[in-house]
Amino acid sequence: MQKYILIIGACGQIGTELTFALREKYGKDNVVASDIREGTDNLMQSGPFEILDATDYDALEELIAYYEISEVYLMAAMLSATAEKFPMRAWNLNMNSLFNVLNLGKEKKIDKIFWPSSIAVFGPNTPKENTPQNTIMEPSTVYGISKQSGERWCEYYFNKYDVDVRSIRYPGLISWKTMPGGGTTDYAVEIYHKALSEGSYACFLKKDTALPMMFMDDAIKATIQLMEADDDAVKIRSSYNLAGMSFTPKEMAESVKKQLPSFQISYAPDFRQAIADSWPSSIDDVEAQQDWNWKAEFNLERTTQVMLENLKG
Ligand SMILES: NC(=O)c1ccc[n+]([C@@H]2O[C@H](COP(=O)([O-])OP(=O)(O)OC[C@H]3O[C@@H](n4cnc5c(N)ncnc54)[C@H](O)[C@@H]3O)[C@@H](O)[C@H]2O)c1
Repeated sequence: MQKYILIIGACGQIGTELTFALREKYGKDNVVASDIREGTDNLMQSGPFEILDATDYDALEELIAYYEISEVYLMAAMLSATAEKFPMRAWNLNMNSLFNVLNLGKEKKIDKIFWPSSIAVFGPNTPKENTPQNTIMEPSTVYGISKQSGERWCEYYFNKYDVDVRSIRYPGLISWKTMPGGGTTDYAVEIYHKALSEGSYACFLKKDTALPMMFMDDAIKATIQLMEADDDAVKIRSSYNLAGMSFTPKEMAESVKKQLPSFQISYAPDFRQAIADSWPSSIDDVEAQQDWNWKAEFNLERTTQVMLENLKG
């Protein structure tokens, strides 16, 4: 049977590339992109698009009925750095959009949901190195609190209402097709843009702040792999740890210098340093490896190569 997919928040950093990938796989007319705003020309021209506010249950329900949607990818959210500035707006968007989609699952109006969590679910008391799936969490940011609550609700809806919801705790994502949307790991994208346009970059984190990161192609591959896994292979219904690579701004600058020897980096930590300090520096994703055969392909060197190649144009 033909399945129809809806992506909510399709114009963002992940949504844009997820839309292209799902359209390539399932056919452009079977994947409806939606967002509260319009996206890049490429995205807008690649298939059906609808303006949708994810917090508007009636509009969402209507769109799902109209397109006979069976799978929803909910990518709309307010990210870590912006959420610290607008706590209540972040909480309302991140939670209400999730409840809307989970309730449509409970009502059996959709069959399958993808909702992303984040390494922000961890906090200052979490073991920092190789952070395991199950450990102390206690997130200290608005964004992290919303993601941890979201994970609890996903598991609850799976257990109580048999809602097929699947989730990944994404690390910081590096990509070139769109700019990142206000997260604490945005430096790892900005650095490449500035290296090419100005030959230098002032990093908002300290040089030795290691964080878990991933190249976008790996994140998209993991997302689709998890969504296609057999039901009984998906043993974790809160959210899976997922690892790609881990590095510091200094290591990243060195990798840029290998390609652009005159590149200069300076460090001017701001409020995002405290957020980064509360997060793990590396992640153990053994459950994703065992349950649905996860394996990352991109390391830092390959990421730098692909980013610079594509941004040079
Ligand atoms: N990018 C990362 O590094 C990263 C890491 C961990 C988790 N995540 C999670 O992945 C998801 C997508 O992240 P992203 O980086 O693509 O974010 P983004 O900020 O780039 O994109 C979010 C999109 O949601 C849209 N949006 C905002 N409010 C909306 C509303 N009310 N209705 C509909 N759309 C709305 C925005 O216009 C934007 O296009 C989020 O849940 C985020 O928390 C991202």
